[in-house]
Amino acid sequence: MQSAVCPGSFDPLHNGHVEIIARASNLFDEVIVAVSPNMHKRPMFSVEERMEMVQETFAYVRGVTVRPLGEGLLAEFCKAHGANAVVKGLRDAKDLSYETPMATMNRHLSGLETIYLPADGRYTHLSSTLIKEVHSLGGDVSEHVPRAAQRRLAERRHEA
Ligand code: PNS
Repeated sequence: MQSAVCPGSFDPLHNGHVEIIARASNLFDEVIVAVSPNMHKRPMFSVEERMEMVQETFAYVRGVTVRPLGEGLLAEFCKAHGANAVVKGLRDAKDLSYETPMATMNRHLSGLETIYLPADGRYTHLSSTLIKEVHSLGGDVSEHVPRAAQRRLAERRHEA
């Protein structure tokens, strides 16, 4: 069985992530979505909430599971879960320059390969950061995120 890991912060999950995870699930028997604690930024949603967004969105997609990445190395996480590859979406050349050192480091650490999928043109402008900014300023981001994220973003607005 060929397994891949799609790692990320997913704070929140948006349609660009959803499309990459879905395409990865067409290539691999199992896709493990690994939700990172996001140590460098203060996240809007807890790891549990972000995992629920993935779980709800992929509830009916065979082979997609979600786990917390934890605070260790991605290479170790992949080894522990028997995954042969990491799948990442690339929106532009900036993503390529950001991802490639990590991909190379992961290969040096444990032979783990990274597969890049070019983002579909409909989603190249999406980032969780931009979605949070637009939402916090009162903009409507509902066409850019799955229902599970829409609902949680709306709850946050009502709580604020
Ligand atoms: O969605 P993000 O914030 O761009 O995701 C970044 C992530 C989680 C993929 C990256 O920070 C990562 O791989 N973290 C795991 C820790 C690790 O292995 N660091 C060394 C990478 S070479």
